Amino acid sequence: MKIAVIGSNMIDLVTTVIRMPRVGETIEAPSFDMGFGGKGANQAVAVAKLGGDVLMMTKVGDDIFGPSVKKNFESMGIDTKYVDMVPGVSSGVAPIFVDASSNNSILIVKGANNFLHPEDIDRAAEDIKGCGLIILQLEVPLETVYYAIEWGAKNGVQVILNPAPAAELDYSYVRKASFLVPNETELETITKMPVSTMSEIAAAARALVREGVRSVIVTLGSKGSLYVAEGREELVPPHTVKSVDSTGAGDAFIGSFAQYYLKTGDVIETMKTANRYAALSTMKPGTQKSFPTLEEFERYAG
Ligand code: RIB
Repeated sequence: MKIAVIGSNMIDLVTTVIRMPRVGETIEAPSFDMGFGGKGANQAVAVAKLGGDVLMMTKVGDDIFGPSVKKNFESMGIDTKYVDMVPGVSSGVAPIFVDASSNNSILIVKGANNFLHPEDIDRAAEDIKGCGLIILQLEVPLETVYYAIEWGAKNGVQVILNPAPAAELDYSYVRKASFLVPNETELETITKMPVSTMSEIAAAARALVREGVRSVIVTLGSKGSLYVAEGREELVPPHTVKSVDSTGAGDAFIGSFAQYYLKTGDVIETMKTANRYAALSTMKPGTQKSFPTLEEFERYAG
């Protein structure tokens, strides 16, 4: 069965930095690289690299980047029937700064991503009905995200909602998703609760479940991931690697989680696999470029 990714694409403009410049200051940075990114596109590519079938719904700009974004999807075997160009609008771009400890700071200019509308979902309804899962993030209009959640609930297609970048959300929609997958910062924004310790993180996730959210998976980077649902809570340990660039690791987690969950239906086992896939993606620089193929992943797993 296919996985539908309804979301964003960006061109990542990645600069490695020793430190960020102060206001009015010019400093030299060691290196620059450009790559295909955007949370939705990254998640779609992770699924595709792992051998999954993906239907991508996204909008590209009317500039030099638009056609290459579409070509990149095609080269991964992703269905681009609903990858549309928006006339007179720029593509989404993301200036990214990666420091020596592999931490990243990201700016996003949404561009064409702002033009993904609920009507696009209606237009693709017959194709999305045949999908086993819908994956959503928050780099496209929130009304489209909410519409897709309701659409999934009405049509019996499970939804994974990755609330990134962080935003306050209306629980009446979030409750209808099968999985809410925030990182710590996103969890803090949604719940307005502290998340500095593991017990605070668990308390915040539990608060969401009390609000009616079905299952919460908190991605914790080098600390693994935490599953919280009614009557069940489990911390899934991390897979430790020597990391050089953590950009896109959350997307690698979501894409691999979707692919293996669709195959097995086993949440905890799938989280272990997704922890491993996300960790491996941090061993190389870049976002999509750093995601292992199925063959590389299986080879690594032994
Ligand atoms: O999650 C990483 C992604 O966030 C980058 O690829 C960037 O494009 C932003 O969307």
